This record gives sequence, structure tokens and C-alpha cells, in this order.
Amino acid sequence: MRAVIATNGVFKPELTVTELPAPAAPGPHDVIVRVHAASVNPKDWKLNYNLSRITAISSAMARRVRPLFGDDLAGTVVATGSKVHDLQPGDAVYGMDMRLRTASLAEQALISRKRIARMPPGLSFTQAASMPLAALTALQGLRRGHASKGSRVLVIGASGGVGTFAVQIGKALGMHITGVCSGANADFVTSLGADAVIDYTAGDYRQDAGEFDLVFDVTSYETPQTCAALIAPEGWFISTGGQGASMLATPLYRLAGRNADSVVVESYSKDLDTLSGMVERGELRPVVDSVFSLEDAEQAYARNRTGRCRGKVVVAIVPD
Ligand SMILES: NC(=O)c1ccc[n+]([C@@H]2O[C@H](COP(=O)([O-])OP(=O)(O)OC[C@H]3O[C@@H](n4cnc5c(N)ncnc54)[C@H](OP(=O)(O)O)[C@@H]3O)[C@@H](O)[C@H]2O)c1
Repeated sequence: MRAVIATNGVFKPELTVTELPAPAAPGPHDVIVRVHAASVNPKDWKLNYNLSRITAISSAMARRVRPLFGDDLAGTVVATGSKVHDLQPGDAVYGMDMRLRTASLAEQALISRKRIARMPPGLSFTQAASMPLAALTALQGLRRGHASKGSRVLVIGASGGVGTFAVQIGKALGMHITGVCSGANADFVTSLGADAVIDYTAGDYRQDAGEFDLVFDVTSYETPQTCAALIAPEGWFISTGGQGASMLATPLYRLAGRNADSVVVESYSKDLDTLSGMVERGELRPVVDSVFSLEDAEQAYARNRTGRCRGKVVVAIVPD
């Protein structure tokens, strides 16, 4: 099968497509998927490029090359393990696996049954592949921030991969959503359903934009301290974390008796089914910023690295 690997390993990883053996027979609880589309997330270039350096060393030692890139996938079932009774070859599925790494920038991927779900009807593979990691982060972040019907939620980074889902999922769950984005994206975020939009380029909104039951920072640029004036007395600050300052700031804020946490996304079939239900009811529509071929995976990452994407960057392996 064709798969994306990193070459020039340790010093300057570069992505290239190579021929590798397809996954062998699935384990009892696993599924082999023919990947039609995969999507790109900041984690790939923040973490996997460094992992590829380690993998380059271990692969050289083990004299084998493994695909590594790509978390999200949408595709069709090729084979199922002996304990998987509810999926058949040809079924359309989507999902991701953060633990063992989906390695979905490849023509086939091996994934645990509990990390995938049937694809929502009415979506293309490209659209479905854009969902798992970002939409699950949005759903799980809103939950972690104890947001529910009627909650006032501020989504910082409303126009990007996670943000476009957070706005729509929040609205689907009956929340009052204010989105923070650049002025150029204000109409776009309103079109996703946001009740109000703040243009962060117009000035520092963090002191006088009102109080929220949840400040959900999906940029991970902010900390609970920088957003303190925005958080209602019993309200929550949730970050997608990852940046050094926020990792330290959150426990410090908690020490002062306030509510702050970060979300670390995990894939569960049940949560994917929840998202599929929202798609089926017309409450959720993935936004695809751009689509690249497998051969152009490096450009797909370059696009994502700009930090200016509207929704998600997708790599199409089988054209829709
Ligand atoms: N912890 C986890 O499990 C987890 C899961 C998923 C993602 N993440 C992390 O969450 C972050 C966001 O991921 P993503 O996929 O949403 O990234 P993304 O798609 O690259 O986000 C790009 C968006 O960020 C917006 N943005 C940039 N600077 C901003 C600012 N100062 N204020 C408000 N918005 C701003 C941009 O909007 P404008 O163009 O309008 O400025 C753009 O639409 C990344 O750091 C990622 O690693 C963590």
C-alpha cells in the first residue's frame, strides 16, 4: 500500500509517499479500514514530526519503516477481527485512535473497533474524515467545562478546526455561544450559528466582554489568569492545553479554588455516534478548509501550520 513516511529522519523530517506492506490480519477487536480520506491536526506537526525522529532511529535499528502520520480517518471496512460482529467489509466508518496512532495517511489502517463508528449518512468521506479529533475535542471540552443548555460559552478560536465544531455543537446543545475570531472570519462564525462574535484584532476584549459560564480556549494561547475577568464566579476555564504557560497556569488557578482544566481528546464510538446524530439532524456540518492528495501531504501540513485555516485540512486518498 502507499503510505506517508518521514524521510531525512532525525534532522529535518520530510514527508514522502512510499510502498509499505498493508496491515496484517486484524486482532480480535480490530478493524482494517481502506482509508478514503484522512485529516490534518496541529498535533501531527507539533508531536509527530518529533516522534518521527525517534521512529527514524528505532526503524533504522529494527530495519523496518512504519507509517506514523494522520489520526483521523474515514473509509470502508476491509476486514474485521473475530470479536467484531457489528461491521461488515464495505461498511463506511470514521474515527481515530490517539493511543496506538491511527497512521491514517496510508491506503489502509488498522484501528480498534471501539475507536470508530459508522459514518454519518449524507457526508462525503472527505467531510467525515475532517471530524473525529477536532469534533470530539469540542464535544469533550464543552462537557469538561460543565456547559449545558442555557450556559453562556465563549469559544476562543471559533473559526479553526476545533472552534467550528465547538460553536455548532454548543448551539446544538442549547448553549449561548460567543465566538472569538479575526474580523475577516466574523461573518463565517456567525453563519455557523454563533449568537455573538468578538474580533480579537480590534482590541483586548478580555477585560470588558462580559462574564461566561465557560471560557473554552481552543487556541491554547490563553490561560485562566489572562481570561479571569471573563469567567463567572462559578464558571469554568477549559483549554486545549499543550502550551507550557497554560499547563502551569491551570493548576495554579485551581489552587485558588477556581474551576480550570484542560481537555485531552479520546475517541469513543459512543461520542462519534453522538456527533453522527447531530449531523443527521442537520445541527452539525463539517467545514473543510482545503483538500490535498497523499503525495501533497507536506503541503497539507504547511497549510495547517499557518494557523489561519477555516475548519479542517483534509488529505483525500480515494477521490470522493
Ligand atoms: N488537547 C487536545 O486533545 C487537543 C485536541 C485538538 C486540538 N488541540 C490543540 O488545540 C489548538 C487548536 O487546534 P485547531 O485544530 O482548532 O487549530 P487550527 O485549525 O489551526 O486553528 C486555527 C484558527 O485559530 C484562530 N486563531 C489564531 N489566533 C487566534 C487568536 N489569538 N484568538 C482567536 N483565534 C485565533 C484562527 O482564526 P483567525 O484566522 O480568525 O485568526 C484560525 O481559524 C492546537 O494548539 C491543537 O494542538 C488539542
